[in-house]
Amino acid sequence: MAATATPTSLFQQLGGTPAVEAAVDIFYRKVLSDDRISRFFDDVDMDRQAAKQKAFLTMVFGGPASYTGRDMRQGHAEMVKRGLNDGHVDAVIELLGQTLAELGVPAEKIGQVAAIAESVRDDVLNRPTGSPRGTPSKLAGGSCGSSCGCGN
Ligand code: HEM
Repeated sequence: MAATATPTSLFQQLGGTPAVEAAVDIFYRKVLSDDRISRFFDDVDMDRQAAKQKAFLTMVFGGPASYTGRDMRQGHAEMVKRGLNDGHVDAVIELLGQTLAELGVPAEKIGQVAAIAESVRDDVLNRPTGSPRGTPSKLAGGSCGSSCGCGN
């Protein structure tokens, strides 16, 4: 398709836009049926959600998304106030891995995708880059600070 695309791009290796579209449906169903994280998606409308999933997957595939750390911080700030923590990020990465495995993506590439998702963990959780697991965000307001999922 795009003759100018970098041949080694992970996004291209995984199958480009058609692969993203195939993954969106599977990933979205997994997210919405997972009790650990589904509540964060309750108030997100369907049209915006589809766009969000495509943006998410294109980004973790290393594709032509141009989100900066600041965008990830802003995009998830409200969720951090509602208790988003390391356990939720783990769940998303786990469901992403399951989705790709179901689509026949080799384990090595799933590892590369997970590493990209990992690289934005601190931005998503609105805390300083390099924070240890379980570090609460200053936005969170609560006092628990663990990744137990209690949201406090
Ligand atoms: C693991 C790394 C993650 C990446 C790369 C990522 C990526 C993204 C992107 C690209 C957007 C769209 C931002 C925008 O359009 O403004 C977004 C929004 C969103 N993300 Fe994430 N995300 C991650 C983790 C999570 C987690 C752990 C949750 C919740 C369990 C989550 C829930 C959401 C929701 C609900 C939105 C939509 C917000 C809205 O429309 O108001 N994300 N994410």
